[in-house]
Amino acid sequence: MPSRRPAAPPTTKAEVMDHEVGLFEALYTTRAMRRVTGAPVAEDVIRRMIDAAIRAPTGSNAQSWRWVVVTDPAVIASLGDMYAEAWRELTETVYAGVDRSDPQATRVVTSAQWLADNFSSVPLVVLPFHRNDPSGASIYPAVWSLMLAGRALGIGTTLTTVLGMFKHDEMAALLDVPVGKGWRNAAAVTCGHPTGTWGLAARRPAHEVVFQDRWGDPPPWTIDDPLWIPADGPGPQP
Ligand SMILES: Cc1cc2nc3c(=O)[nH]c(=O)nc-3n(C[C@H](O)[C@H](O)[C@H](O)COP(=O)(O)O)c2cc1C
Repeated sequence: MPSRRPAAPPTTKAEVMDHEVGLFEALYTTRAMRRVTGAPVAEDVIRRMIDAAIRAPTGSNAQSWRWVVVTDPAVIASLGDMYAEAWRELTETVYAGVDRSDPQATRVVTSAQWLADNFSSVPLVVLPFHRNDPSGASIYPAVWSLMLAGRALGIGTTLTTVLGMFKHDEMAALLDVPVGKGWRNAAAVTCGHPTGTWGLAARRPAHEVVFQDRWGDPPPWTIDDPLWIPADGPGPQP
């Protein structure tokens, strides 16, 4: 069982940045950090995020991936225009029925709308592409590793897929991706220095979504509170 961190929590911005993030802290607090400043992400930080990402496993260790790291503001602006259109299509279709009286759903949509409106000001977008990956399962461990590495280095990230869903070939053409050779986009991970702070990710408790031995049989345990909490308490869990 992960231990609860005994150390006093970092408070000032400098302390937060210097604070060494433990593995469980990263696992519990790596949230969708859409609101970021326009300040560039240092090249060394980008290198460390990418180098951590490509340590992830793939089926047969095929590593059938390519990563397009975009920092050119003009390219990000073009991606941003596509993203805004893709987001509009999503809100008019899949998200059309979002229950606006549900505060959790409303928070996600409001935050996601901010990203759609401000994509062009994001300083770094990482786009992983994969091929010969029939289950599609070989790319996301690395994407999550990229995000965890970002968390450890003070960089907020958001995994987005709406561009690939609605604007795949347009985005691929912008980036000169050889789609004819089978390359498919898996995500556009927006990255930057977050304007907010990291908190515990609120999720439905494990015992409500886990079965024991066979579907439908509950496990012999419950987990009413997260097994890792920040030293200063769980705080608000939006
Ligand atoms: C497969 C996948 C696709 C996602 N696509 C988008 C997206 O296109 N745009 C966006 O703003 N967020 C996107 N998200 C972020 C989710 O909305 C976010 O992870 C979720 O609401 C949980 O947020 P939290 O970790 O901050 O609690 C995506 C997440 C995943 C895992």
